[in-house]
Amino acid sequence: MSICLPISKSTLKSDASGARRLRVRVLGSAAGGGLPQWNCRCRVCRLARTEPQRVVPRTQSSIAVSIDGERWALINCAPEVLHQLQREPALQPGRDDRHTPIQSILVTNGDVDHVAGLLSLRERSPFRLHATPEIHGVLRDNPIFNVLAPDCVERCDVALDSRIELLPGLAATVFAVPGKTALYLEGDQVDIGAEGESTVGIEFDVDGRRLYYIPGCATVTPRLAARLEGAAALLFDGTLWRDDEMVRAGVGQKTGRRMGHMSMSGVDGSMAALAEVGIKRRIFIHINNTNPVLIEDSAERREADSAGWEIAFDGMEITP
Ligand code: MLT
Ligand code: MN
Ligand code: ZN
Repeated sequence: MSICLPISKSTLKSDASGARRLRVRVLGSAAGGGLPQWNCRCRVCRLARTEPQRVVPRTQSSIAVSIDGERWALINCAPEVLHQLQREPALQPGRDDRHTPIQSILVTNGDVDHVAGLLSLRERSPFRLHATPEIHGVLRDNPIFNVLAPDCVERCDVALDSRIELLPGLAATVFAVPGKTALYLEGDQVDIGAEGESTVGIEFDVDGRRLYYIPGCATVTPRLAARLEGAAALLFDGTLWRDDEMVRAGVGQKTGRRMGHMSMSGVDGSMAALAEVGIKRRIFIHINNTNPVLIEDSAERREADSAGWEIAFDGMEITP
């Protein structure tokens, strides 16, 4: 374990051409389970199997970011990571027989959909694994993650609200968002909406253009709304359209609230909560397979469109 030093703004100045531009590539846009989910026959999953032009299949959520197109960082590491990398030439070995453009991985929580892919990156390529001390603790308590050899994979503690150098010239700030502990760590009492080290959002600030990645969020607090004001782009938790959607679809007992995810629609949904916040591009990501917004021609998709929200898909490119 090491503490990766926070960096100062001065190390991130543009070069003379001023050509610095953050590139974001969506590797996976679905929530836990993916789309279609292997054991689900809900309407959306059925359409993803039978009419993939109406419901485009998606892998579990993860993005890749770069400032130079050569060195990349992954934010979260989905169980499908090998398949995701296979689809992205920029993330494949570019030189030498053993090489990876991936220099860093940062995880936003300990959920299976965000950490399980780490087990597939165990072939002794060096990279830095960034997480809060609490999330590193979860990984340490699961000895299977020791397949990431310590002499190759440096585990870096990220303190909340500190600015770290994720890639040379690319800073990221990790901040707490309301969430909950990972499902497999839940005890009898679950603190839903807790703000701490278990669920974080990421802020990228490249020459004053801010992009946020928040794939899990239980509620938009005034503090979060204030932080997002003026953002160039936001990728936000789009797990469910409505809170009781899984119950209504007959595929589960849990509400979104219970899972630590706020819904898109409704008076207490994310579209309403963020309607008055000045954000240039708003994009839903981490979308559950029951969410009707995934159906290209649905009323829910039209409603999201008219509220100014885009729906992420695998392979989507964002250059804020
Ligand atoms: C979530 O986002 O709520 C989790 O990924 C649930 C899970 O572990 O399947
Ligand atoms: Mn998830
Ligand atoms: Zn389904």
